[in-house]
Amino acid sequence: MFTLVHLSDLHLAPLTDWSVSDLVSKRMLGYQSWRRRRRHVHLRHIADAMRQDILALAPDHVAITGDLVNIALESEFLQARSWLEEFGSGDWISVIPGNHDAYVPVSWESGIGQWASYMACEGGFGLDKDRADHPFPYIRRRGNIALIGLSTGVPTRPLSARGWLGEAQRNRLDDLLGGLSETGMFVVILIHHPPIAGQNQWRKAMGDCRQFEDIVRRNGANLIIHGHNHRQMKDALNRDGTAIPVLGVASASAKQTSRRSSARYNIYRISHTSGQWSLATEERGWSDSEAGFVTIHEPDA
Ligand SMILES: [Fe+2]
Ligand SMILES: [Fe+2]
Repeated sequence: MFTLVHLSDLHLAPLTDWSVSDLVSKRMLGYQSWRRRRRHVHLRHIADAMRQDILALAPDHVAITGDLVNIALESEFLQARSWLEEFGSGDWISVIPGNHDAYVPVSWESGIGQWASYMACEGGFGLDKDRADHPFPYIRRRGNIALIGLSTGVPTRPLSARGWLGEAQRNRLDDLLGGLSETGMFVVILIHHPPIAGQNQWRKAMGDCRQFEDIVRRNGANLIIHGHNHRQMKDALNRDGTAIPVLGVASASAKQTSRRSSARYNIYRISHTSGQWSLATEERGWSDSEAGFVTIHEPDA
């Protein structure tokens, strides 16, 4: 059995080391939003407690599906890198960016390139190793599990939280999944935005959902995991009568509010028996009363 932990949307606090010139453009709105609302919701001690809980669980691998930062300040990328390094190595953790990690245009070196070891492509299936400036999709193999990391994080206009894969990335993904389809591997796709058409209002949606769905229907995959909406989401993509699970996880740092649950992470236990793959999921969430993470049991239907 392979145990994969999934967390997302850390929105790590605090925001420090900014100058007035950093806050021109879209960042000013994002900073005001953080001051007014987000800093009261996304709490550093919850993210740190989640990290400890996962370390105690000792899964085989950890997937983080984007929005590690808030307004893409250089200091935020460094802070997130430190947080990751205290968690574990790039071999054990796979990271992809979200829209907040591309809040405004930032160079690779000053931005997500700080997390390069957590996004390194192992190569194969037509992909080069270590493509410096845009390593998406990347592939990492752990036994007969293939992890594919995508990026939908692109700078957008103010008040927009949209995302796109773009044609070049979609074409590489098509080739990659085509190559994997004959291998019998369990293919996990990491993507920040909920990737099925209709899952989000336009302002927050992924612009090329339908093209992504077509690629997955053509080639197959076993599990698609995402963040972005800061809530637990369970959906599926139907392919020839088979439902591919599409699972979203709540924010990794959030306290309970009237609109959102407290922080969650998902545990996926992937087994291969008698030639068949099976997937069991478990949820752990922040409990104020326990001051820690507990297993969440869904209410009876
Ligand atoms: Fe987010
Ligand atoms: Fe997001």
